[in-house]
Amino acid sequence: MNKISLIGAGNIGTVLAYNLSRKQIGPITMVDVVEGLAKGKCLDLSQSLPIENLNIKIEGTTDISAINDSAVIIITAGIARKPGMSRDDLIETNFSIMNEIGKAIKKFSPSSFVICVTNPLDAMVWSLREISGIQPNMISGMAGILDSARFRFFLSQELNISVESVQTMVLGGHGDTMVPLLDLTSVGGIPIKKFIEKSNIKKEKLEQIVERTRNGGGEVVSLMKNSSAFYSPACSAVEMLESYLYDQKKILPCSAFLNGEYGVKGLFVGVPVIIGKKGIEKIIELDLSNQSKKEFQKSVEAVEQLVKKCKKLLV
Ligand code: NAI
Ligand code: 2OP
Repeated sequence: MNKISLIGAGNIGTVLAYNLSRKQIGPITMVDVVEGLAKGKCLDLSQSLPIENLNIKIEGTTDISAINDSAVIIITAGIARKPGMSRDDLIETNFSIMNEIGKAIKKFSPSSFVICVTNPLDAMVWSLREISGIQPNMISGMAGILDSARFRFFLSQELNISVESVQTMVLGGHGDTMVPLLDLTSVGGIPIKKFIEKSNIKKEKLEQIVERTRNGGGEVVSLMKNSSAFYSPACSAVEMLESYLYDQKKILPCSAFLNGEYGVKGLFVGVPVIIGKKGIEKIIELDLSNQSKKEFQKSVEAVEQLVKKCKKLLV
């Protein structure tokens, strides 16, 4: 029941395994190409269970056929950014990894709900779908939840108001062109515009926060040097997984396959979706302001360029 497969036992995979083991959602299988890595981490994690009176099967392997019949597969396999690298610099290496994993999903677990985390996100999830042949509603990319969480965190710090009271949404591709939506940003239900009008926050400060959000991943990389963010990406993927497995029907910004919505056809781009037991159950089309529409279009074009590169790698 509810078997969860994690492909990639690196930083994000490790936090995912820990987080999911504590939630006791279902047995966990972790796969990594590095001999002993997934097996060792899963053995260590299994040995932590008796201490907290938890009881769940956790297995690590290099054998990708172990993902068979998973309810959910989360993919974090690939290389991550180093200082000075953009997400897009990862494309060729990570495409070939998606190629391998996509074929394995097709063969061993074609009915799973697949969450892709690997960068460059929107192009990798597109590639995975092409290769695996999975139904578009059963595959999605994690990015918007993380980008929105960063925006919420920065705003909450600036306003000195609980993060729980800050709502926002970041759409578009997971890159420098992502679109934090000021129209949908509110604090305790009060539109952020009112906070500017009442001088609780200056417009310029808000613009700086938007820029900091766009560079949120890069800021973490520049501090840690040898890795990119991993706690917050793992938590974001878990939110998607739970909404699917528990049919929560949450509205979440995720990279979803667009078939005409937002005027986009055949690409995965970050938009608000409802995730429930049927996967991506609905894509929510928002009335964007003219400014946001322009920014979203620019972001779609950036995703399109990356997908063009992947199309060449497909043949
Ligand atoms: P990491 O380098 O710590 O782990 C990646 C793991 O993938 C390594 O253990 C590696 O051995 C494994 N791997 C490589 N090829 C494999 C294959 N064919 N099958 C199974 N495992 C394989 O990287 P980390 O920090 O966990 O990040 C993973 C990915 O997530 C990166 O591409 C990173 O850029 C991306 N990322 C995406 C975010 C998002 O918002 N979508 C946020 C942060 C990172
Ligand atoms: C992040 O946003 C690098 O995509 C990664 O942290």
